[in-house]
Amino acid sequence: MTSTALFPMTATATPTPAAVRAARLVDPGFGRVFTDHMACARFDADQGWRGLEIVERRPLAIDPACAVLHYAQEIFEGLKAYRTVDGGTALFRPAANARRFQLSARRLAMPELPEDMFVESCRALVRAERDWIPAIEGGALYLRPFMVASETFLGVKPSAEHLYMVLAVSVGPYFKGAKAVSIWASENYTRAAPGGTGAAKCGGNYAASLVAQAEAIARGCDQVVFLDAIERRYVEELGGMNVFFVFDDGSIATPPLSDTILAGITRDSLLTLARGRGMTVREERYSLEQWRADAASGRLTEAFACGTAAVVTPIAHVKAQSGDFAIGSGGPGQVSSSLRDALLAVQKAAAPDPHAWLDRLD
Ligand code: PLP
Ligand code: COI
Repeated sequence: MTSTALFPMTATATPTPAAVRAARLVDPGFGRVFTDHMACARFDADQGWRGLEIVERRPLAIDPACAVLHYAQEIFEGLKAYRTVDGGTALFRPAANARRFQLSARRLAMPELPEDMFVESCRALVRAERDWIPAIEGGALYLRPFMVASETFLGVKPSAEHLYMVLAVSVGPYFKGAKAVSIWASENYTRAAPGGTGAAKCGGNYAASLVAQAEAIARGCDQVVFLDAIERRYVEELGGMNVFFVFDDGSIATPPLSDTILAGITRDSLLTLARGRGMTVREERYSLEQWRADAASGRLTEAFACGTAAVVTPIAHVKAQSGDFAIGSGGPGQVSSSLRDALLAVQKAAAPDPHAWLDRLD
């Protein structure tokens, strides 16, 4: 079945005029410039998945007793479509997002969307909206697949009805103009506890992170980094990104995956690229205390955040109640820059793709 057959499209009667779109794409920022269409499907326990289509992007009419509004039974994904160097369009590892969406669904007691439906919904939407990829540095079409519990019922139980949708957003860099970011290490708030939902991409995790993110902003930082919930010592991840450390012997490290850390697809891609280059790569616990000591001694030369939105963003400063510290030269380091360039080259089809990560749509 072709993507158009799986997600048939009814085009909007009022598409955004090309000149208006072009003006919006000059400096889109992140998360505000939406395209004209969205993908939709709905699920109910009796009939399974149905109503698969690409339609005009429009507001939803939902009952005020809709389950998600009360109990936050919601999951989402984030992936990008890129313009390739040969003028084509490609998604990056959409099947990996599809699988993570299934894991998140399981954790939130939601139905699993079949992998091909997830991937085809993304492909169909990108095919419809490829003109919305900004031709600027760091420009991409960010896709936001998500699922919400839509049953009208106030008892606390897994919803029997769900809505799946994919939005497309024209984006530039997540941290505008930032060569490196500052992060706030939250020593009072935690993001995820063992047995909780930290490894799922669910809205509730982000809602719970916002007060710490607000503290980060109040301290002049761009993002918050969370420590483990048990010992309050080990670095886990940022509010919306994974974290890597680079050492003076050329090795890199990142916290190991667990049920309190989101298994980032960028994280996995960077680990694979680094191992492919023969670099020493460790997935190991690393404490804030050790991070501070290694930054001071020079053993730690770089640190960076990574994710679909952030790509690879160097971390220049860490602030914390227990003491601030600076990392390396304060700008992009050589290892972060070279891993970032290698990842972007694969995403733009400017480098070989031995792992078949690119899903080309042309
Ligand atoms: N960790 C969190 C909490 C995130 O929100 C994200 C972004 O999706 C990531 C890590 C990075 O994941 P990915 O590389 O798949 O975008
Ligand atoms: C992503 O990178 O896809 C995320 O969900 C992170 C968020 C900061 C936009």
